[in-house]
Amino acid sequence: MGAEALRVGIAGLGRLGRRHARNLAERVPGAQLVAAASPVPDELAWAREALGVAALYPDYDALLRHPGLDAVFLVTPTALHARQLEQALAAGKHVFCEKPLALEVADCERVEAAAARAPGLVAMVGFVRRFDPSYQDAHARIQAGQIGRPFLVRSQTGDKLDPSGFFVRFAPTSGGIFLDCSIHDVDLARWLLGGPRARRVYATGTVAVHEDLRPVGDVDNGLGVVEFADGRLACLYASRTLAHGHDTHTEVVGTAGSLSVGVNPRANRVELADGHGVRNLCVADFYERFEEAFLREAQAFVDCARKGDPPPLALSDATEATRIGRALAEAQRGGRIVDLG
Ligand SMILES: NC(=O)c1ccc[n+]([C@@H]2O[C@H](COP(=O)([O-])OP(=O)(O)OC[C@H]3O[C@@H](n4cnc5c(N)ncnc54)[C@H](O)[C@@H]3O)[C@@H](O)[C@H]2O)c1
Repeated sequence: MGAEALRVGIAGLGRLGRRHARNLAERVPGAQLVAAASPVPDELAWAREALGVAALYPDYDALLRHPGLDAVFLVTPTALHARQLEQALAAGKHVFCEKPLALEVADCERVEAAAARAPGLVAMVGFVRRFDPSYQDAHARIQAGQIGRPFLVRSQTGDKLDPSGFFVRFAPTSGGIFLDCSIHDVDLARWLLGGPRARRVYATGTVAVHEDLRPVGDVDNGLGVVEFADGRLACLYASRTLAHGHDTHTEVVGTAGSLSVGVNPRANRVELADGHGVRNLCVADFYERFEEAFLREAQAFVDCARKGDPPPLALSDATEATRIGRALAEAQRGGRIVDLG
């Protein structure tokens, strides 16, 4: 593709789609946001007014037919990802897709098969934490043997309590807390441990605040244990109800040491000492915590697509994350250990 910019169209302009759209339009060298699709007219109006996007489509098929389009960014509801990814690959477009790849393993495998039929195209799922500078430093230190052989990952994704419970609306289609939130920690654990497959999982959970989750079998606080085929372990916690802010952190224990990332989810370097003690502010949400990582992730996708390089994470990793996330959800709902063979 040489020095030409990658002409990108985005599908989905919701909570996260708007962030990706702004990054692509203003902050990712080598990308040009040329088109957007959403079934919601207000969202399209926002793309035109805020970002100057001229080509606006109420449906995804029309976006794929946009003249000269090179790539699509899928930031649509999870249940649509697999089909939309397949359509994009069939139309000859590079694709970035938000996590999770799909809620069903069979759908992930169909996407992998479609990507195998289109070897010149980049298809990448957005496990954003792999692009966070601190997680990358941790990964490099583990690779360099600084904590010996890592054998245990303890990782959590914690959202600040949102009393409106907006996510409850999505609970029937998001796959539940393990596929929606813990899937990040699942992918991280596999990445930090060198990509093992899972052997079996157990999970449980509780409804601490959002009673409306009970009818769909979901919880607002979930705990899971993943046993990998080589005997190593991951222990995961996800919460939608933290009082203090967005708190995502990870600890990796090895035979010669341990390391942690983000244990104090500080918003900045200010510490206030007063009659209540010594404290700092926390980041408010996932985007504040991972803003730089989202930017680096988009840049990595755009660079790979322009140069024809393979993406830094494989679709098979996204399939394995869904396989484990599904098993965790099944374990929590059924109250039993789920064997993954
Ligand atoms: N990486 C992360 O940390 C992270 C964080 C939040 C969300 N996500 C993922 O991003 C995706 C979107 O989440 P969100 O919170 O932005 O949801 P959202 O509901 O706020 O946005 C979804 C968007 O998709 C649009 N849409 C629906 N059907 C469409 C179609 N057929 N074609 C085009 N657009 C369509 C909607 O109008 C809306 O703009 C989900 O898969 C979610 O798992 C990832």
